Amino acid sequence: MKSSSSIEDLIPHLLQAKKVVVLTGAGVSAESGIPTFRGRDGLWKKYRAEELATPYAFISNPRLVWEWYDWRRQLIADKQPNPAHLTLAKWENIFPSFWLITQNIDGLHQQAGSRRLLELHGNIWKMRCVDEGTVFENRTTPLPEIPPHCPDCGGLLRPHVVWFGESLDSALLSEAFRLSHECEVMFSIGTSAIVQPAASLPVAAAENGALLIEINAEPTPLASVAQFNFYGRAGEILPQIHQALLQALEKNSSASLGKNRTTKARKTEK
Ligand SMILES: NC(=O)c1ccc[n+]([C@@H]2O[C@H](COP(=O)([O-])OP(=O)(O)OC[C@H]3O[C@@H](n4cnc5c(N)ncnc54)[C@H](O)[C@@H]3O)[C@@H](O)[C@H]2O)c1
Ligand SMILES: [Zn+2]
Repeated sequence: MKSSSSIEDLIPHLLQAKKVVVLTGAGVSAESGIPTFRGRDGLWKKYRAEELATPYAFISNPRLVWEWYDWRRQLIADKQPNPAHLTLAKWENIFPSFWLITQNIDGLHQQAGSRRLLELHGNIWKMRCVDEGTVFENRTTPLPEIPPHCPDCGGLLRPHVVWFGESLDSALLSEAFRLSHECEVMFSIGTSAIVQPAASLPVAAAENGALLIEINAEPTPLASVAQFNFYGRAGEILPQIHQALLQALEKNSSASLGKNRTTKARKTEK
């Protein structure tokens, strides 16, 4: 199939889809005002993310790494989900099976209402005890103590996020691959599609016959694999797709998305 960038052409595929998976990256949160790593504003002091988001950096200087996370937490604290997050939250009620897999750690998908969500790289609002592995939610910004310590055992706490050079939670990753293998439609949105293993998920879906749709500010290595490519702002393109989908559902109430779901989606929409 030739690649297309027509929403009109995409809609019939979405009407037929029962299992939909979406992979998101930092680009989805860019319109909420959260810098991506690879943009200019991603820099903190003179450090690049790759120098701070590593287990080595944490062992050598936990204070420096926590100062960076404290800064990032303050940057994110007052940010709100944008239309891209909100649209994806609505899709849980539209498709018979819908899963959102995110590389983002900012928690904005959850804030937008997404529940069928796998946070592959963890969550910046969680901390983990280095000694015991216990995970705590903590939304205090700025942090009163840097580095923070475990309220149970006094051990050092680290951000509950996956750093460069660390493995992802293996159960979570297997689930993400299972969902990607089984889906009929996969979206890759706002991700440069180069951070592994997340970048392999859309490829795995496409290899298993799923329709792949890329929505990004610019083409990525996935561009040639995807059947649909939309270049622009996720916060504009997703609502456009959503509107077109709702219109098609109105017209075609016998669409295989199912009557009940359609009604529910329309109800939450208005
Ligand atoms: N918000 C966050 O939680 C956050 C922020 C920065 C980095 N990270 C972490 O950094 C890693 C970076 O990988 P990544 O692929 O997620 O991000 P990335 O920074 O590598 O890529 C972001 C992509 O989004 C595109 N983009 C920018 N603005 C966009 C918009 N408005 N609409 C659509 N696309 C847009 C860019 O062109 C780029 O290709 C991930 O592991 C992630 O955990 C997370
Ligand atoms: Zn502890």
